[in-house]
Amino acid sequence: PAPVIVAIDGPSGTGKSSTSRAVATKLGLSYLDTGAQYRAITWWMLTHGVDVEDAAAVAAVADRPEILSGTDPTDPTITVDGTDASGPIRTQEVTAAVSAVSAVPEVRARITELQRAIAAGAPTGIVVEGRDIGTTVLPDADLKIFLTASPEARAARRGGELKGNGDQAVDLDATREALLKRDAADAGRKTSPLKKADDAVEVDTTELTLEQVVECVVTLVEEKQ
Ligand code: C5P
Repeated sequence: PAPVIVAIDGPSGTGKSSTSRAVATKLGLSYLDTGAQYRAITWWMLTHGVDVEDAAAVAAVADRPEILSGTDPTDPTITVDGTDASGPIRTQEVTAAVSAVSAVPEVRARITELQRAIAAGAPTGIVVEGRDIGTTVLPDADLKIFLTASPEARAARRGGELKGNGDQAVDLDATREALLKRDAADAGRKTSPLKKADDAVEVDTTELTLEQVVECVVTLVEEKQ
């Protein structure tokens, strides 16, 4: 069969990563975490002393870091200039800065080009997760999913992830505020904002388990094959 391209978009904490990785693993497809790429370029900016609030300064060095994304859904490591950045890109500093960096058009152009090349090279197909995959990066995807969930469910999931990473002092209200602020920035930016594509299937995951969401997406992919 021809390679199948699946785009999974939605705001933070809707289960995009867990769902995408499980679907890709089940169907033998590659996987690309585009949020990790924006986090990686943000991490590089922070470690190189770039003022991330200065769009011109960010744009001027958008081409500098060499970003390599692993596409194995069971082990999606990401390297920046040869260094494994999988851990550092998940810090609160990066999370707080990523929306400003990802809003810069030169950054989006650079990362979008990487994403299209990776998708085109996937032998059996790929599940690509992000914010603008169905609208901008891969508008011809075979299947587009838009995941949503209530703010409470999203904050609870993100809080659970942080706890799982060893952070015991997770404040759910603060997590919820930070998450809503990032979504507002991502949805409000000029260049390819977070938005459901007209032809995307919306799945509200508030009342669903991860297994149920995965089952639903797998069924939709199989219908396309
Ligand atoms: O998915 P994750 O929370 O890791 O994404 C981090 C950030 O990267 C988002 O808040 C957003 O600013 C940016 N992003 C984006 N476009 C994508 C994926 C992520 O702008 N396709």
